[in-house]
Amino acid sequence: MNSTTGEPRPRSESVLPTNRGARLLAVGGGKGGVGKTFVTVNLATSLARLGKRVVVVDVDLEGANLHTCLGVQTPQRSLADFVSEREEDLGKLVIDTPIPNLRLIGATHGNLADAQPSHLRRVRLLRGLRQLDADIVMLDLGAGSHASVLDYFLVSDDGILVLQPEPTSVENAYTFLRAAFYRRMRLAMVGHGVRQLVTLAMDQRNERGIRTPLDLLREIEAMDTEEARRFVETMRVFRPRVIVNGVRTAEDVKLGFAVSSVCKKYFGVEAEYLGYVNYDDEARRSVSMRRPIVDLRPDADVSIYLQRIARKLLGLPSASVAAHTESAARVEGRSNSRGGHR
Ligand SMILES: Nc1ncnc2c1ncn2[C@@H]1O[C@H](COP(=O)(O)OP(=O)(O)O)[C@@H](O)[C@H]1O
Ligand SMILES: [Mg+2]
Repeated sequence: MNSTTGEPRPRSESVLPTNRGARLLAVGGGKGGVGKTFVTVNLATSLARLGKRVVVVDVDLEGANLHTCLGVQTPQRSLADFVSEREEDLGKLVIDTPIPNLRLIGATHGNLADAQPSHLRRVRLLRGLRQLDADIVMLDLGAGSHASVLDYFLVSDDGILVLQPEPTSVENAYTFLRAAFYRRMRLAMVGHGVRQLVTLAMDQRNERGIRTPLDLLREIEAMDTEEARRFVETMRVFRPRVIVNGVRTAEDVKLGFAVSSVCKKYFGVEAEYLGYVNYDDEARRSVSMRRPIVDLRPDADVSIYLQRIARKLLGLPSASVAAHTESAARVEGRSNSRGGHR
């Protein structure tokens, strides 16, 4: 056990990526209501339509609603069965959805007392997810920066951060990234003293005056050059990706670049701006109709943006540059429609 955090030492049962089996994509964002579930459902549907065998997993045990957005009845079997150790085989919890190639491990509200799996259970879960019979496993994370949410984000091949162009969402996204960054660093450090230093740095008002990751790096360099090298390497491979959802103006579109440049300056981390999705009342309606918008209205701008992000995730070129340019012009044409409220 780790005496400072009460968690098992990471090296024995590591939660860090292993790059085997299905590709794991986690969609998080720190704040409820920014569109994590909406983005997950629609990216998963787009990926399935591109021929990938996809399983979406509702990891948001306290606010489970992924099944509803996919038009699936409240599942009888769910992730709650795995968390509470009633079922060991995750494969048995996978159910079909109306979308070909897309299956689901749902969550039910179940017993909220054990809504957050223990660290060890989480490690097992993450291993099991990679072993599912699928090309891509997508996790819809809950809100907040709880350790379990951070682990799902960190262990995935792609940790995708969804944010909205509003100050509270941006603030939450930074809080989430900061928590993820320090947790990742603590897992990467080997020496007890250095791990303690990382834990100390997580408190923004710590008495050692460590205010930024670069301050922390300087302190670590003074203690142990090998750990400092590991720190820099971890910085290099930590690559969160960003989606701005609910975009209405050209200004909103730029937010993704701003977040990405803050990540570089403050954390020394490359955060790729995957793309943006416009605000559309139809999107909200698609949720009421329990169908992904990319399925219901594949030609709507909002669907074109989502499909473009899905293609980018697979390293495919944009399907139709013309369609994208046209819809981008429509968003950008509205650039002054909110009358400079910021
Ligand atoms: N681009 C969008 N345009 C319009 N409404 C959206 C958009 N994205 C999400 N919504 C709506 O916002 C609400 C919250 O989205 P949801 O995906 O449940 O958020 P989260 O999972 O982050 O809590 C839903 O009603 C959804 O339909
Ligand atoms: Mg959600």
